[in-house]
Amino acid sequence: MLKVGVLVSGGGTNLQAVLDAVDSGEIKNAEIKVVISNNQNAYALERARDHGIDALCISPKDYESRDLFHDELLSRIDEYHLDLIVLAGFLVTIPERMILKYKNRIINIHPSLIPSFCGTGYFGLKVHEAALARGVKITGATVHYVDEGTDTGPIILQKAVEVKEGDTPGDLQKRVMEEAEWIILPQAIALIAKEQEEKA
Ligand code: GAR
Repeated sequence: MLKVGVLVSGGGTNLQAVLDAVDSGEIKNAEIKVVISNNQNAYALERARDHGIDALCISPKDYESRDLFHDELLSRIDEYHLDLIVLAGFLVTIPERMILKYKNRIINIHPSLIPSFCGTGYFGLKVHEAALARGVKITGATVHYVDEGTDTGPIILQKAVEVKEGDTPGDLQKRVMEEAEWIILPQAIALIAKEQEEKA
């Protein structure tokens, strides 16, 4: 059984897609053990609690330094002995020591076709604003492994989405979520769970 932790900052619609995929059996041999947010008001935490999943808030605001926040984040994560950490709209930079410790065990969903519109400063609506400003006709989403860079790790899955005439950033964000993110994030977790099962 793949033990999964999900890190979130906001609404958690990607988390919901993962929870639904576990419930429906699309993701097999995986269990969501914990959901962690840096934001105590994140609706994602409610979604986790509704599913009887441990929901923790670990906010940098509650620690005197970034280092102490990172210590707490890492030690709480370690307690769950996770096989996979999913960044599902987690808008806090994770410490390099965590990336090294969990090498090839952290994945991220990004709302563009990497290498377009990614890297430092590209998150949430900003990604879609940049795509519209550039005038691309196709955008999409990417699930990738997390390495020491920002959005630079190996790509697992991508899905393209059409940009339509007159789209606002909000329109595009919604279409990319519905047509790409909520599909490829559960698919990627299902793939990783299957790989682990085959190795066992
Ligand atoms: C998603 O669109 C995700 O791709 C994005 O944040 C949103 C979270 O929404 N992540 C990034 O921009 C990371 N660079 P959600 O809380 O409803 O899943």
